[in-house]
Amino acid sequence: MPLVTVAELLKKAEAGGYAVGAFNCNNMEIVQAIVAAAEAEQAPVIIQASQGAIKYAGIDYIAALTRTAADKSPVPIALHLDHGTSFEQCMQCIRSGFTSVMIDGSKHSLEENIDLTNRVLSVARAVGVSVEAELGKIGGTEDDITVSEREALFTDPMEAKRFVDAAGVDSLAVAIGTAHGRYKGIPKLDFERLRQIRGTVNIPIVLHGSSGVPDDAVREAVSLGVRKVNIDTNIREAFVNAARKVISDKPNEIDPRNVLGPAREAAVQIIRDKIRVFGSSGRA
Ligand code: G3H
Ligand code: 13P
Ligand code: ZN
Repeated sequence: MPLVTVAELLKKAEAGGYAVGAFNCNNMEIVQAIVAAAEAEQAPVIIQASQGAIKYAGIDYIAALTRTAADKSPVPIALHLDHGTSFEQCMQCIRSGFTSVMIDGSKHSLEENIDLTNRVLSVARAVGVSVEAELGKIGGTEDDITVSEREALFTDPMEAKRFVDAAGVDSLAVAIGTAHGRYKGIPKLDFERLRQIRGTVNIPIVLHGSSGVPDDAVREAVSLGVRKVNIDTNIREAFVNAARKVISDKPNEIDPRNVLGPAREAAVQIIRDKIRVFGSSGRA
C-alpha cells in the first residue's frame, strides 16, 4: 500500500495502548529487513533515516527504496526523517515523499525551538506530513557527562506543556534517561517524569535511544504513553555481527550477497523481537 503518515499510525497506537517501532535504515538490506519483520509480525512500522543515513545513501535513494517496499507490502509503513537539522532539510524530505519529519530544535532555546518547529509545521500541515519535535537533550552514550549532568538535560514537564501549546506537533521526543548508541551499563529511565510529561501534554511520546533499554522498562514506558520507539544500534549490531561471522567463517567468500543476506536475516530477527515488546504485533 502507499506510505502512510506517522500521525495516523500513532493515533491507532494511542487507541490500542501500544507503540510503533521506528527503525533506522541505511541501505536496501535494512529496508527489506524492516518490512519483512513487519510483515511476519503483521505490524505497522516506521522506517526512518538519520543524518548519517542521508550522508551515506542520500534522501532520494532512501525515499525510493522505502516507497518500493511499501507499495509491495500489505502492512502500513511510514517514512520519517530522524533528527532533522533544519527547515530546509525537512522540506527536501517532504519533497522526496517522506510522510513524516522530525525537526530537532533541542539544541536551541525554548523560544527558538518553538519558532523553528512552527515554521516546519506551517508547511507540513499544508501537505499532510506529520511532525515530531524534541524537548530536553537526549544526547549520546559516548557523551562524556556525569549522571547528574545528564539529568539536568531531561525534559521539563511544564516546558513540555508550553512547547506543545505553542507548537502543535503530532509527537514529542523526550529526554528521560535514554541516550543514543551502546550503553556502558543498564540505563535507568525516569518514569515519574514521563508520567508527569504525559499528564501535561496529551500527545504521543517518542522514546529515542531505545537499543539496550531492558524490555520491561520499554513496556513500562509504553504503558505510560510512549507510542513510537526508536531503534538503530541494535540493528547495526545484529547486521554487522552476522556479516562478520560469514567473513570469519568463510575467508574465501567474495559474493556480497552471501555476506549481506545473513546480515539482513539477523536484522529481521531483532526487529521482530522489538515489535513484540512494543505490543504492535498483529496491529497492521
Ligand atoms: O539518531 C540516532 C542515530 O542512531 C544516529 O545515526 O550515526 O546514522 O547519524 P547516524
Ligand atoms: P539507538 O541507536 O540508541 O537505538 O537510538 C536510535 C534513535 O533514537 C534514533 O533517533
Ligand atoms: Zn534519536
